[in-house]
Amino acid sequence: MPELKVLISRDQIASRVAEIGADITRDLSGQPVIFVGVLKGAAIFLADLARQVQLDASFDFIGVSSYGNRPSPAQELQHGWDSTGEVRLTKDVDQSMRDRNVILVEDILDTGLTLNFLKRVLLGHQPKSLRIVALLDKPSRRKQPMQADYVGFAIPDEFVVGYGLDYAEQYRNLPDICVVPRPV
Ligand code: IMP
Repeated sequence: MPELKVLISRDQIASRVAEIGADITRDLSGQPVIFVGVLKGAAIFLADLARQVQLDASFDFIGVSSYGNRPSPAQELQHGWDSTGEVRLTKDVDQSMRDRNVILVEDILDTGLTLNFLKRVLLGHQPKSLRIVALLDKPSRRKQPMQADYVGFAIPDEFVVGYGLDYAEQYRNLPDICVVPRPV
């Protein structure tokens, strides 16, 4: 098991999540919202963020995977997720998004492929508004332009786990965000 180093502590996460929650509360000025979390990595972030937003809110979840070419966990760790851009929907939202204020909640914005895909999918549901919130952003890895409306932390090109993020389905329950060292 690799040695993990804390990059962002649980206290730093909590105060940044509270700030983003206050921003969303202010920006939506009393309107109801629906949080749409991207499975599975955004589940913990969504749960914490939603409790920092003082608006009427409901939850939904959406699922994606990359078309058969997601690298093995070891390759992913070494080179990142260099998908060819073929993202596929594994679970659509359950509720109607029509004329609603949708807040798409993602754990990490990396190449931008996933959020570009999901933005298209959700706009197809004709919401009243769509905002994107990403807890983490690795701007240096972008392959397609994508900017989230709210970003928790910009981070360097490291593979991170914890607070919902996994390495081969492990470490999602770590309270801090940690760096997995790349093999030398
Ligand atoms: P994108 O389509 O390249 O922006 O990828 C976003 C997805 O890649 C995230 O939802 C994660 O599932 C995965 N991902 C990217 N970087 C990391 C990381 O450092 N740790 C864990 N998962 C990551």
